[in-house]
Amino acid sequence: RPPINDMIKPLSWLLGKWRSEDGQGHYPTIKDFKYIEELEFIHVGQPNIQFRQVFYAFNAETKKPMHREVGFIRVTPDLSKVAFVSAQNTGLAEVEEGTYNEKEKELRFESHTVGRLTFGKPPVTKKIARIFHCHGDTLEQIVDMETVNTAMTNHLTIKYKKVE
Ligand code: HEM
Repeated sequence: RPPINDMIKPLSWLLGKWRSEDGQGHYPTIKDFKYIEELEFIHVGQPNIQFRQVFYAFNAETKKPMHREVGFIRVTPDLSKVAFVSAQNTGLAEVEEGTYNEKEKELRFESHTVGRLTFGKPPVTKKIARIFHCHGDTLEQIVDMETVNTAMTNHLTIKYKKVE
């Protein structure tokens, strides 16, 4: 693999494969659920990080595959802005932007664009916000969302440990 691009060096702690430990799903309109996933972040020498769920995010009890997204993290040269671009199995394609706190190893993103299919399943997702936070050897991801029916509130909270 080529050397890591200088622009993403500060985010090198994120690179690798992370396996979830305690994935929890909530939303006021649905039943709480537990889920499992592996997230992989790789680079190819370019100033971006590619991410994917290795298989799918799947239900912890039934093992049924549920959600998958793949995409890229991009940054400005001074890291004052970060972006998270993702395509999802549900037909959603979204662009999130935000900030990086190097001291806290925390990335915060909020969508400015959520694209969807003309024949997508309701309700329409209006906004997505997520936080990646690394403390010690644990990565945490928190995803909030707003739909046409529900104000911005938590959908996912999940912790991971690095496995590769
Ligand atoms: C339900 C969006 C990630 C599992 C929903 C709903 C929306 C949504 C809009 C319907 C809520 C309602 O009816 O009011 C998203 C978005 C995601 C995401 C935008 C990523 C950013 C995930 C992940 C899982 C998951 C990773 C875990 C495997 C579920 C389940 C339901 C649900 C089980 C309820 C059952 C269903 O309606 O299919 N999600 N979701 N979601 N989501 Fe997510």
